[in-house]
Amino acid sequence: MDAVTQALYDAAQKVRKHAHVPYSEFPVGAAILADDGNIYAGCNVENAAYPQGSCAEASAISAMVGAGAKKIHRIFVIGKGVDPVTPCGGCRQRIREFATSETTIICTGEDGEPKSYTMNEILPDSFGPESLEAVK
Ligand code: THU
Repeated sequence: MDAVTQALYDAAQKVRKHAHVPYSEFPVGAAILADDGNIYAGCNVENAAYPQGSCAEASAISAMVGAGAKKIHRIFVIGKGVDPVTPCGGCRQRIREFATSETTIICTGEDGEPKSYTMNEILPDSFGPESLEAVK
């Protein structure tokens, strides 16, 4: 693991400790290296009205956008178990909104090995901001 990925891992683990997961008992932490050089982290926040819960990736993206950063260079996601915990479909699209051609998504379970993906691997032939620009 390089130094930046280690810093993302540390941030994701730290925020994951605060995940509000009384229903799934599946805490997730996400940490983003943004284009401003800073790291933004978020955890999943569940709700008694189940659909109102939010994923760790969505929380981290909100923190990034609220701070004024525009692009995701790298995002690290950690959840439970051995297999890599990969973003849900909705979060793949949320990440896509702020992705570049270089964006890397690194996923792991706390008991497993991190696995790295490109944006196109986890969301092939995606629709994004450029798709709208192209027809303006
Ligand atoms: N979850 C995330 O926060 N991120 C993922 O990448 C996968 C799933 C959350 C949603 C829910 O709070 C719990 O994990 C179980 O699905």
